[in-house]
Amino acid sequence: MQGKFITFEGIDGAGKSTHIGFVTDFLVARGKNVVASREPGGTPLGEKLRDHLLHEQMHLETEALLMFASRREHIAQVIAPNLAEGNWVLSDRFTDASFAYQSGGRGLARGKLEALEAWVHHDLQPDLTLLFDVPLEVARQRLNATRTLDKFEREQSDFFARCRAEYLRRAAQFPERFAVIDSTRSIAEIQAELGQVLEKLL
Ligand code: ADP
Ligand code: TYD
Repeated sequence: MQGKFITFEGIDGAGKSTHIGFVTDFLVARGKNVVASREPGGTPLGEKLRDHLLHEQMHLETEALLMFASRREHIAQVIAPNLAEGNWVLSDRFTDASFAYQSGGRGLARGKLEALEAWVHHDLQPDLTLLFDVPLEVARQRLNATRTLDKFEREQSDFFARCRAEYLRRAAQFPERFAVIDSTRSIAEIQAELGQVLEKLL
């Protein structure tokens, strides 16, 4: 029996990471084996690539290719084998993030990402993508309150406006797998909605 694949998306500071623990506990309480992972990263090689991606300046296409290199390894080592064993895989970001950041944010032609997506995982898409959506100002305030910012998080607000718009465009293009979560609300309100969305998938 094949497991389910859930991805967590949103601009930096939207609250994705906050909810992964909740979703893990929710599914474990319902008897599922859950593997939580992240991109870029999720494998030893992917984590090395993540370090370069988050801290070094590089050509836009190099950045996109390394994101997909990390993803290819993540699918081979973690996502596909776990789904085949019937486990549920949660990934903090996946290909929608490449569309949002490399195409929306940085302006890489969407067609190039569509080609990489078809090459790297033509037959594998998330069963559910939770898009944590907030206005930029809210995300920025949350980020500033918490941590040292990496290369992406130091981008200007118009960059994040374009990322958010591309996320919402992907959500409109693939409504069958996306749930857009209004993340301006309290954590408790968001988790109540997450519970309802997850029950449908169960
Ligand atoms: P992301 O993973 O999307 O970058 P985080 O989950 O790390 O975002 O959240 C960024 C910060 O905002 C954290 O300090 C977190 O506690 C806080 N936060 C997350 N969701 C909410 C919320 N709904 N209301 C208030 N603060 C939140
Ligand atoms: P993330 O793990 O959300 O950062 P943090 O641990 O600080 O919450 O993601 C790292 C960054 O990588 C994030 O700013 C978005 C970016 N990213 C891309 O630009 N393209 C991609 O394909 C992915 C997966 C992430």
